[in-house]
Amino acid sequence: MKIGARQIPSDLTLPKQFQRAFPACGALLFCILFLSGILGGGHTSSLHHHNAVFPKKIWQTWKVDPLGFEDKDSNVARTWTSKNPDYRYEVLTDQNDLAYVETHFGPHGYNRLDIVYMYRELTARIIKADLLRYIVMYHEGGIYTDIDVEALRPVSKFIPDRYDEREIDMVIGVEIDQPEFRNHSILGNKCESFCQWTFMCKPHLPVMLTLIENIVRWLKEIAMEQKVPISEIHLDFDQVISGTGPSAFTRAILDDMSQRSGRTITWDNFHSLQESKLVENVLVLTVEAFAAGQGHSDSGNHNAKQALVKHHYHASGWPTAHPRYNHPIHGEVERCNWDAECVRRWDENMAAFEALPAEEQTAQIALRQMDTPQQRKRQARRDRRGRPR
Ligand SMILES: *[C@@H]1O[C@H](CO)[C@@H](O)[C@H](O)[C@H]1NC(C)=O
Repeated sequence: MKIGARQIPSDLTLPKQFQRAFPACGALLFCILFLSGILGGGHTSSLHHHNAVFPKKIWQTWKVDPLGFEDKDSNVARTWTSKNPDYRYEVLTDQNDLAYVETHFGPHGYNRLDIVYMYRELTARIIKADLLRYIVMYHEGGIYTDIDVEALRPVSKFIPDRYDEREIDMVIGVEIDQPEFRNHSILGNKCESFCQWTFMCKPHLPVMLTLIENIVRWLKEIAMEQKVPISEIHLDFDQVISGTGPSAFTRAILDDMSQRSGRTITWDNFHSLQESKLVENVLVLTVEAFAAGQGHSDSGNHNAKQALVKHHYHASGWPTAHPRYNHPIHGEVERCNWDAECVRRWDENMAAFEALPAEEQTAQIALRQMDTPQQRKRQARRDRRGRPR
């Protein structure tokens, strides 16, 4: 209770009355600050009071630092720095990523040794890349963008004029919006998602930490199921998408929105989005913003006024290490690129195949493997046309 009094220097020339009242005022002020710190600064409430604006920083992660980039990477990266000269720019690399995680999540940072341990043990590159972007966005915020994404417009255009930046904690865009496949055995868990190759955050958003924790928990479960150490787990394409990629990102955000609003917020709120929408401090941009020109999800093309970035997909080699479901005869359903007729045919073919007696299935597969090299090449060309993710 003496805090207020002690802070008044003795030679201060305040009116006598005020001097007498000051200790009481100080105590009151202290109480107010203390209470508001507890009630208002809790991790469940919005944090926009603490961070009025988004940090002016662009983040990327890649194998090497920007001085060692190949030309195609420098050219694309330069679209970000040249369109945003008032932003800082940093690339975390395969050599310095662990030190970053250890510094900020180790004993002198958030003291989250579970997260540091997981990051250190993991060998699957794409999983580390997903995890690292969430870690950086949690700790520092700013913009994260993949190495093969070109900036078409400055970051200042990410938030339309009609919004107040102080009321936004996160800016994301729609990537895949094909809810009609919700019940499909393979496409079902990736047909509705927000894009995580480019997004913007203020620091310390609880949803980012929750997402990181979800991933750590999921990886531990996988390692247990597979009875291997974390460094030896095997993941297929769908596990990557749903465990750490866009589906995990989307689920965490929808859950967080639901929790904070006290009602269930589903994808229906973002289906066929005609213009950007602010939900619980998350600004959701239309599909053109970050994912134009996909040939699905009504994503239009990059000439659209709303198109903010262009994804070149040249760094998406990861499906090779984490293969998609690939039927020996009918191939991958992803080749359909969300074309309803094509998916229907694939499903029919699969059902017909599964109805065959086992010997007949084996015979058909053997026949397919006798395809001429030309036939194989043609098939491979068709396969390549399917997009990653
Ligand atoms: C998915 O299945 C449920 C339950 O069978 C059904 O009610 C729903 O309409 C289906 N959704 C789609 C998009 O097919």
